[in-house]
Amino acid sequence: MAKETMSHHPTFPLTRAGSALSAGLMALSAALLSGCFPDVRQSTVHPASDTGEVIQGVYRMVTWIDTGIFVLVVLLLGWAIWRYRESKSPAGTIPKQVHGNSVLEVIWTIVPAVILIFIAVPTWSGIFRIERPPKGDALKVEAVGHQWFWEFDYKDSGLVTAGELHVPVGKPVEIMTHSKDVIHSFWVPKLAGKMDAFPEKENLLWFTPDQIGTYYGQCAEFCGTSHANMRFRVMVDSEADFNAWMERAKKPQLAKTDDAKAGEKLFSERFCVVCHTINGRPDAQGQIGPNLTNLKDRTSIASGLIDNTPENLARWIKSPRDIKPGAMMCWPPVQPTDTACGKLPVSDDDVNKLIAYLTSPSAGAAPGYGQAPQAQTRGTAGK
Ligand code: CUA
Repeated sequence: MAKETMSHHPTFPLTRAGSALSAGLMALSAALLSGCFPDVRQSTVHPASDTGEVIQGVYRMVTWIDTGIFVLVVLLLGWAIWRYRESKSPAGTIPKQVHGNSVLEVIWTIVPAVILIFIAVPTWSGIFRIERPPKGDALKVEAVGHQWFWEFDYKDSGLVTAGELHVPVGKPVEIMTHSKDVIHSFWVPKLAGKMDAFPEKENLLWFTPDQIGTYYGQCAEFCGTSHANMRFRVMVDSEADFNAWMERAKKPQLAKTDDAKAGEKLFSERFCVVCHTINGRPDAQGQIGPNLTNLKDRTSIASGLIDNTPENLARWIKSPRDIKPGAMMCWPPVQPTDTACGKLPVSDDDVNKLIAYLTSPSAGAAPGYGQAPQAQTRGTAGK
């Protein structure tokens, strides 16, 4: 029956060359489209910093040179195909065969060498420019790679956070990369190029963001099971927003409701404190997992994999490896194994209390921060 249906199906005489061509065209249009829309989160062609501009400048120049060469080669090829087509030659003859031509050989050696010099000089100058420390004070942040999340240590204020890096717009940022385990690579395509993070060595990277916004980053060096899930975000804030964020991020959560208070206790009793730090809370100083201070301010959890919502937090706390394969959030918090890390033995009730605590506003928040907006007055609803 199935066979019969199949035999009546119309067939398209697509040759192997034809399908290769259409696959190539699809890949080309996908590449072009992704380059055309600035919304693409990890686009390298929509820079938002001085360092990004330098890299983009070299990239643009190389692309134009390459486009020129491509057009020239296609035109010459087309001319040769047309000029020496079969119908132009007497039947049964082949065109004059050439073996060795010194003039041509010299030309095709010198021309590419000149092109390479044209590409190399601006590339070197670009490298020197982004390798030069910025003038004036930079905000110094150590970006520490862990399997599989990024930790951010603000060197001047001592503040530590994870997953989302906040920086003020228009101020130079100095990123010092470092790793707690294997080699990772810090990469925020719109802000800067890649910089490897090693356990035994520190590398420096600079950029000055010039547009307020959220920028998406990604670990760019294979580092194990969840390498592709090792994401992060850079929030470029106004100076005032950045300072307010820093005030909130320094202080622990302020547990006001009964659930939040119970969650605050559970955070110690269920050993969360062994792995996680809450700034300003003496009993929670764990260094293994991400710093969870002021989680309310984060837009994402699980190293940028999912949005920071109570539902997602509950999914994450109960079963982290369903979201991030290989995640090291384990119970008991000693040996990461599938049994210890797959499903965490916490009741739904305890999970809700922990979430109520972790999402409480920071004790450093300005009055009114995080409260529900005032109910709308009659007549304005729906406008
Ligand atoms: Cu960290 Cu890949």
